[in-house]
Amino acid sequence: MLRPPRRLPRPPLRRSAATGPGRRLLLSTPIFYANGPPHIGHLYSALLADALHRHRRLRAAGPGRLSTGTDEHGLKIQQAAAAAGTSPAELCQRVSGLFRRALAQAAVSFTDFTRTSEPRHQRAVRRFWGALRDAGALYKGAYEGWYCTAEECFVPESQLGERPDARGRRCRVALESGHQVHWTKEENYMFRLSAFRDPLWKWLRDNPRAVAPEPFYQRVLRWLEEDLPDLSVSRERSRLQWGIPVPGDSTQTIYVWVDALVNYLSAVGYPETHGEWWPAAHHVIGKDILKFHAVYWPALLMAAGLAPPERIFVHSHWTVRGQKMSKSLGNVVNPAACVGRYTVDGFRYFLLRQGVPERDCDYYDEKVVKVLNSELADALGGLLNRCTAPSINPSNTYPRFSESCFPKETEATGRASAEDYELVASVASLPLQVAGYFEGFQIYKALECIALCVRQTNGFFQRHRPWKLDQKDPGEQLWLDTVVHVTLECLRVYGTLLQPVIPHAADRLLSRLAVEPEERGLSSLTFLPRYDGKPCPFEGRQLGPDTGVLFPRLEQSGQHQAEAEEL
Ligand code: ME8
Ligand code: MG
Repeated sequence: MLRPPRRLPRPPLRRSAATGPGRRLLLSTPIFYANGPPHIGHLYSALLADALHRHRRLRAAGPGRLSTGTDEHGLKIQQAAAAAGTSPAELCQRVSGLFRRALAQAAVSFTDFTRTSEPRHQRAVRRFWGALRDAGALYKGAYEGWYCTAEECFVPESQLGERPDARGRRCRVALESGHQVHWTKEENYMFRLSAFRDPLWKWLRDNPRAVAPEPFYQRVLRWLEEDLPDLSVSRERSRLQWGIPVPGDSTQTIYVWVDALVNYLSAVGYPETHGEWWPAAHHVIGKDILKFHAVYWPALLMAAGLAPPERIFVHSHWTVRGQKMSKSLGNVVNPAACVGRYTVDGFRYFLLRQGVPERDCDYYDEKVVKVLNSELADALGGLLNRCTAPSINPSNTYPRFSESCFPKETEATGRASAEDYELVASVASLPLQVAGYFEGFQIYKALECIALCVRQTNGFFQRHRPWKLDQKDPGEQLWLDTVVHVTLECLRVYGTLLQPVIPHAADRLLSRLAVEPEERGLSSLTFLPRYDGKPCPFEGRQLGPDTGVLFPRLEQSGQHQAEAEEL
């Protein structure tokens, strides 16, 4: 392969003014290949980004955008369309609609949806190509290697294996994905990726939080220690027609990954208005596309005179009953069916509560039923029911807190027990803890902490048996009111913190507690101010109307019930 000398001009990195408080932030999901319908893995990527976006909005952290879209060019789409007996344009139109609907149905609050076939995006890609060319980052070279259409990338010899194909003939496959590769030899435009090893290294060294969680950061560092060959960034037009032609050379089509990555810039108006947002960008991606985002994309950006994105959040994959999801196995889980069965909030809660970014997670219906019943229906919904029951709170108001029943710990002469003080301490520290977990891309841990507190609150309520207290005795009534007040305060905190994950149920919960829309922000969230001798704006307020169960109990489908009970 032809390798001209390294002589890459280094344009200064342009930093935008998008820093400081009230700063802008672009959150993104990957753009989804328009070759097949959405599945729960895609939805998981999008839900993580959505929860971060919603959390940020509740913190009033500054203007934010959430971009998503569909990746519509390349050999993979061209072949999928041919196989489906349709044109690529028709296939993309249809599948893009499926993604848009699936995301909207799951309450993903995206602000921008980019289709890479849109003229606006294509123009941005041509301009980005021009910036690479003008910087001397591209050259034409003869390229040969093993190409994997499923992943749209060249695979080095060291990462290849062999297996029999459908007709029993031996074929080469990419070890990591198991997909077949094909030998290709053509004249392509090459990107001087090799010249960016040091700048990439420095970027990562200076920004240890750029790629999270930590194991993925380490993986990127290891890649930079290995060989970093130049990257083929175009294909012969004769083989790939479905894509953006190389500006000034209509015999070549721009590599689909360069095209796709530029969506993050075209979403914010590149090359005109992107400076208002870029590089304040956080990308949420799956682990299979880490190298494209943490090596190729930052290098391409640097070459085009732009800074790398601020952060890249990486998640692992969902398997289904221990198996990789695949069309051939027929085990692809359709998000629409899940949302229908578990409700939007239920399904969002399950994926975000059980999905651990660092490792692959297994999906099966019985687990969803089990988690939702125990944490949303019984623990959270049950708690709300119990503490708002007319027999306990006939006036349907936010009752008064009594300092004499629940004094500050030091002067503990009231009726509260040591465990009650522990509960108050746990819930008081919860908002900060949750914020920290969102910041560190550990949403599942935030939800785990909340679930733990909900359980503790149920324990508190149960322990004091408020339904046994004599409502005719003023002293007992005072304590009853205090128990209910503390419980409602806990629920108000949980409802507020759960908004990014279960927006509809949280809204119902907060409305029942008479929490006004402007009282639902995270920056002003207080807990039990009366305990600290401060006024509580909710005390004495009429509660909202009873809107029935917060979250319905689900039936196990029967088949695998025993299995689930062992969980
Ligand atoms: O990679 N579990 O698109 P895509 C969890 N177009 N996440 C999964 C998953 C699973 N089983 N399967 C896929 C592409 N994903 C490119 C992206 S961005 C400039 C271009 C995730 O439709 C996957 O990791 O194949 C990725 O984050 C997203 O779904 C889209 O995958
Ligand atoms: Mg994929």
